[in-house]
Amino acid sequence: MEPVSYVDVEIQQGIYFLTLNRIEARNALDAKMLAEIEGALDEAEKNQDVKVIVVQGAGGKSFAAGADIKQLQARKPLEALVPGMQGLYKKIENCSKVTIAAVEGYALGGGCELALACDIRIATKNAKFGLPELNLGIIPGAGGTQRLSRIIGKGRALDMILTGKIIDGEEAERIGLVSYYVERDKLKEKIEEVASQVMRKGPVAIQLAKHAVHKGYDLDMETALWIEKLSQAVAFGTEDKQEGTTAFIEKRQAEFQNK
Ligand code: CAA
Repeated sequence: MEPVSYVDVEIQQGIYFLTLNRIEARNALDAKMLAEIEGALDEAEKNQDVKVIVVQGAGGKSFAAGADIKQLQARKPLEALVPGMQGLYKKIENCSKVTIAAVEGYALGGGCELALACDIRIATKNAKFGLPELNLGIIPGAGGTQRLSRIIGKGRALDMILTGKIIDGEEAERIGLVSYYVERDKLKEKIEEVASQVMRKGPVAIQLAKHAVHKGYDLDMETALWIEKLSQAVAFGTEDKQEGTTAFIEKRQAEFQNK
């Protein structure tokens, strides 16, 4: 019998929809699902037609309820040192395409950390974000202790991590955990709107800007600004820069070639 897949993929007009589909377990992230996410990511990375990757959960009730607790229970201390989920999320952050997390329902633990690793987050009213790992006697281990504080600030991150409190989509937008908060029936529309804004930009510039932000964030200002300068020098050498500036002067839409 063909094994059930936990990840559905679909490409629609440059958008790669990566849908977590293990509804019976609230899309909890077990080893099989993580391997499938990595496979899908590699496929999207290689596909020139893909400009934006959207990560979402099937079923509307849950984006992802975190690491699979049953698998986690059997894990030995040194097994926590392998790249695992943290390594996969680093790969998502380093991906050359723009990643969008579209969160409906639970984004808990590793599910919340997955959303944090994406470049842009959109949430619906029923979204529920939280890092409840301390309830299990462990800590957020897939980037949560670092990315959450970098995104919403150390005080708010400590509050969420230490109390394990769960916040909805509206609150998530208020504190900057997500960029957009929409009604559930407007989610698809919002994803397409944000993705199409991104897709109108030059692909080389997108990569350079994304990496300048991610890599520069953890460096001293002097080095980070130098990374920005070098990235700009690369952008200045592209045909896309000629096209973008010429299109502005000629009052037309730019047609970028990724060159
Ligand atoms: N791992 C394994 N199974 C899970 C799961 C998880 N993280 N979350 C839900 N499930 C399973 C449940 O065991 C249950 O399975 P059965 O039907 O076989 O009993 C099924 O999904 C439905 O779950 P509930 O009955 O609990 O559904 P609910 O709608 O009442 O509650 C929920 C949903 C609030 C998400 C609740 O399931 C829950 O609290 N899940 C755990 C959330 C959590 O603690 N996540 C952090 C995990 S640790 C982590 O992620 C570490 C890290 O940093 C990487």
